[in-house]
Amino acid sequence: MPEYKRVRILGDPVLREPARPVASFDEHLRELVRRMFAIMRDAGGIGLAAPQAGVPLRVVTIDLGPAEEDAPGVGPLTLVNPVVTAASDEVEPFEEGCLSLPGVSLEIVRPSRVTVEFVDEHGGRHVLEADGLLARVVQHELDHLDGVLIVDRATPAERLRALEQLHEFLLAEGIETGS
Ligand code: NI
Repeated sequence: MPEYKRVRILGDPVLREPARPVASFDEHLRELVRRMFAIMRDAGGIGLAAPQAGVPLRVVTIDLGPAEEDAPGVGPLTLVNPVVTAASDEVEPFEEGCLSLPGVSLEIVRPSRVTVEFVDEHGGRHVLEADGLLARVVQHELDHLDGVLIVDRATPAERLRALEQLHEFLLAEGIETGS
């Protein structure tokens, strides 16, 4: 797979770097967003953070796709410089996966609802009240912008098991991580 289409996997330092705020809302940003949607859809993901595409900028793409019985449809969303401004006291566990940790899933406890302020790729400001799967994906992707991965939110035993699962998956698929 060409380098520009590859999702970065645990071990790649770009995943651990705090991402920088976007300052220019120009064609370079919109090209990055298009590339991120293409990578995300290719990989069958519902959310992607720019560091996973090798770019340490505060950009997230989300597409929950059409509505299903237990998941409301949320079309393509681009969050630039997103900030969580409120979170519910109520928390819930949910089994999360991550394109940067293929073959791994971990139960992560997070607030059930969040309010997130962000800018779109054209510079327009938005406030999003998210619950359900959208709240989950938003929080997971915003973690990526701070270099945080789901293994960091797991217990030491879960983390060890997850790293073993990742290793087995990469061996079985013959994927080189460069680390
Ligand atoms: Ni992820």
